[in-house]
Amino acid sequence: MEWGLQNRLSRIIQPSTGRTVMLAVDHGYFLGPTTGLENPRRTITPLLPYADSIMLTRGVLRTSVDPDKNIPVILRVSGGTSILKELSNEVITTSIQEAIRLNVAAVTCSIFVGGEYEKQSLANLAKLVDEATPYGIPVLAVTAVGKEMARDARYLSLSCRIAAELGAHFVKTYFCEEFEKVVGSCPVSVVIAGGKKTPEKEALQLAYNSVTQGAVGVDMGRNIFQSEDPVAMIQAVRAIVHQKATVDQAFDLFQTKKSKR
Ligand code: 5RP
Repeated sequence: MEWGLQNRLSRIIQPSTGRTVMLAVDHGYFLGPTTGLENPRRTITPLLPYADSIMLTRGVLRTSVDPDKNIPVILRVSGGTSILKELSNEVITTSIQEAIRLNVAAVTCSIFVGGEYEKQSLANLAKLVDEATPYGIPVLAVTAVGKEMARDARYLSLSCRIAAELGAHFVKTYFCEEFEKVVGSCPVSVVIAGGKKTPEKEALQLAYNSVTQGAVGVDMGRNIFQSEDPVAMIQAVRAIVHQKATVDQAFDLFQTKKSKR
């Protein structure tokens, strides 16, 4: 792999553990001011010391993260839809020049396999790979799931494999039964989304299951920033991802950190 691309990837997937805790706060690009992200700066700032990278749009990056924070940025460059319309109808919303200007570690877009605008979203990914790779910028494909699509190993394997075949350098997907099959048939690294907010211990179990079944880490949003104590929660997630903590150990850590704040 080319040096610049490898260098950027190693800012995201930590060479010391081969794993990563990515903080996803890009939800507003189609959800607007979703719970926990009404004031992005207030939510994001205390979490930065515990995240290996942050996934967000250029608007939130510019307004809500100070440039001297030096956190690796995964820039969300697809969008153009809202929760009120067909979500798969995405276009690329941010140029590669803008990504370079913002000194990003990677760019990301969603694909909607089986969605109404499947072809358009896959073309978005392929074009993004073509545009980003010459500058050594890795591309993260997000396997977004349409309303009527099952999040099972068959479907997620299909989506992850297509993303890798089109040139994505790493893929974000959902955890599912037989997750090893998804990871085993995807030739690039896989990170998992946390999904809807669940009780803290369940979210920690999800992180644990994912990394012990082959994911290189998490790209977690709501289960961190909607937690009753987001700073305690991200530290507990880190313990699982980077320190091989068990779910019970991580949950104890969450409770200890929470009680001290
Ligand atoms: C939306 C995304 C979000 O970043 C993603 O869903 C991750 O966040 P969460 O852990 O809240 O599911 O990529 O397409």
